[in-house]
Amino acid sequence: MLMKTTLMAAALCLSTLGLAACGGSGNDDDARPQVIAHRGASGYLPEHTLGGYELAIRMGADFIEPDLQITRDGALIAMHDDTLNRTTNVASLFAQRGGGYKVADFTLAEVKTLTVVPTGTAKTSYPGFTPSAPNPYGVPTFQEVVSFARQQTGTAGRTVGLYPEAKQADPAMEDGILKTLADNGFDARSKLFIQSFSDATLRSLRAKQVAQNNKMPLILLGVAAAAPDGSPRVGIVSGSTVRTLTLAEVAGFTEGIGLLINNTTYPISKAYIDQAHAAGLKVHGWTFAQADAAKAAAEFRNYLEMGMDGMFANYPDLAMAARDAFMKK
Ligand code: G3P
Ligand code: CA
Repeated sequence: MLMKTTLMAAALCLSTLGLAACGGSGNDDDARPQVIAHRGASGYLPEHTLGGYELAIRMGADFIEPDLQITRDGALIAMHDDTLNRTTNVASLFAQRGGGYKVADFTLAEVKTLTVVPTGTAKTSYPGFTPSAPNPYGVPTFQEVVSFARQQTGTAGRTVGLYPEAKQADPAMEDGILKTLADNGFDARSKLFIQSFSDATLRSLRAKQVAQNNKMPLILLGVAAAAPDGSPRVGIVSGSTVRTLTLAEVAGFTEGIGLLINNTTYPISKAYIDQAHAAGLKVHGWTFAQADAAKAAAEFRNYLEMGMDGMFANYPDLAMAARDAFMKK
């Protein structure tokens, strides 16, 4: 049945070559736990680059994940930090600027002169992989990521999902995300999740979506938590404080939750995931960053056996191997 569904989805993809329309019921038509390439194949190549996203897609990732920041002139760019210096060569190109190299102080034209540098275990190349984008390690705009995912959907013959994160609780960012997605034909059936750590941002996004009659899927990021009576809650972390919401409250404005894995204060459990599912919520986990193949396999298996629906992974190939092994059981 799964094979038949997958083949039908691929046929639809090939016939349309479109991202938003590809795959019919989008985020719901693949029953397998989803592999989300966290910042691209960020364990191997510079994060949030077209090269890194492409390697992740070649490895089989279901979704690519662009974190989003906003430039001085209002452009949405794929970048995790609200500053440019950890992941780019800004300090060498703009040494005179100072000021902490905040994204919000730079125009898109200035950002476009930068090169993204590898961090963590990433390198500047990956064996046997030649990126297809003309500037694979520049900073892409959100629209460029959307266009690239559409192009890769055609190349791969399967829908490449998008999982953008609003990194700023800013109405301009909300509007930019919704406009970019709507302009590109995304809707409630698309292979898409919009994520945020801010419930206020998601509530605002949902209200705007309702007004626009286009309820694209939302995911609230947080931590597993419990009420004093032990009932499951979602923790919203702000500095050193944690505010909690019931699963029913969260289900009132999102389609799912993205939880910190390996949280020792309140570990994710099968019972927690079962109750989230009963509330109508998908459960995704972040961040699977284990580079050792055997340790990664054990970590993925642990959460897959609890019923986790999606995994943000720095090493998408290891996540794919774990997903495939799990599905064969
Ligand atoms: O969005 C899920 C996960 O990516 C959250 O962590 O800090 O990598 O955006 P971060
Ligand atoms: Ca993220």
